[in-house]
Amino acid sequence: MSARLGGSQPGTNQLNIVVGITGGIAAYKAVGVIRALILAGHDVHVVATDAALRFVGKPTLEAISRNTVDTDLYEGVAQVRHVAIGQAADLIVIAPATANTIAKLAAGLADDLLGNTVLASKAPVVIAPAMHTEMWQNPATVANIMTLRSRGVTVVGPGVGQLTGTDSGPGRMVEPDEIVSAALAVRRPQDFEGRRIVVTAGGTREALDPVRYIGNRSSGKQGIAIALAAAARGADVTLVGANLEVAAPASVHVQHVVTTLELADAVDAASQNADIVIMAAAVADYRPESIAESKIKKETQGDRLSLELVKNPDILTGLARSRRPGQIIVGFAAETEPDDAALLELGRAKVQRKGSDYLLVNRVGWNEGFATDGNSVVMLDGRGDIVMEASGSKSAVADKLLDVLARA
Ligand code: C5P
Repeated sequence: MSARLGGSQPGTNQLNIVVGITGGIAAYKAVGVIRALILAGHDVHVVATDAALRFVGKPTLEAISRNTVDTDLYEGVAQVRHVAIGQAADLIVIAPATANTIAKLAAGLADDLLGNTVLASKAPVVIAPAMHTEMWQNPATVANIMTLRSRGVTVVGPGVGQLTGTDSGPGRMVEPDEIVSAALAVRRPQDFEGRRIVVTAGGTREALDPVRYIGNRSSGKQGIAIALAAAARGADVTLVGANLEVAAPASVHVQHVVTTLELADAVDAASQNADIVIMAAAVADYRPESIAESKIKKETQGDRLSLELVKNPDILTGLARSRRPGQIIVGFAAETEPDDAALLELGRAKVQRKGSDYLLVNRVGWNEGFATDGNSVVMLDGRGDIVMEASGSKSAVADKLLDVLARA
């Protein structure tokens, strides 16, 4: 018992995190929250309400959390379990938090294991509400949320979007990565407080005609992870997102763009008063010289079709040339080179050619780099010297990058 609920490990950053799951459709997304916390190296104990287990199965939660799942107030009574879990917790994250659970927390009720756990704990509490718009806007819920906030509970979201039925509006639980980032931020240093950071993410697309484009497979996950981590560490973040495949976080200012020229304009404007610009987006180097007004037809083109492309401006090089004293410019280099030494040489040549302060080199391929949850990077400074190497989840890579920038 004490080993299983022993609190954070001394000398490591591992936290003992209780994930409370309550009965809403969004309970399936709690699996993503648990997984991300485990990948970030934390020890996760799930406390699920009976209603939550109607939406997501105990075996799934146990497999993902790598711990047994606690649900019943009357199990393990000999170990005084109803208080032990809360006492050992470093952090409590409740996702989803239903209107009913929010009301119970506000009233301080302890009629189930989760209620007891929260009451018996001194750990920070983070909740991710999920409910229909009418319930979220009901004066009872509004008052309960105010009460919880006034007691120091961190409320993440809810977002605005598609709800369970055909309706949409405020009430949708925010995505797991954002919940995790906000939860860990509660215990994070605010070492970017007062700093303005611009991050680009995703991949630009260049239209050929009204329905087709030339693009790349970048999902935007690495850039979003950097934006989230920076916001969690206190930065004022502007995310310039090009065709993002995952939802943009609510904790940052977001500007959506499609093409390289649009990205260039957005970055140009946002970087004017930024302290740091991080170019994680995969930017199309060429665009069609002209865009067809109507759909290009095979009937009129015949067996071959040639596209005339013109070069796009290199935004990173432009930023590096025109940077203000003290402004830090960071680029990424996604390369398919299989040999490690040759990959590093490509990176060294690129950082010197582009003139950025740092360059993160990563390998991409059919199954590597783009659209995956993990990444492996080598970070070079402007001279081409290695200043950091990281492998792991995209959020872990994001934090390591920010650790370097915090010292710069
Ligand atoms: O030259 P390469 O495309 O490998 O450079 C990658 C880095 O340069 C990334 O940081 C990317 O965002 C940036 N880039 C840019 N403008 C381009 C092409 C790439 O800013 N036209």
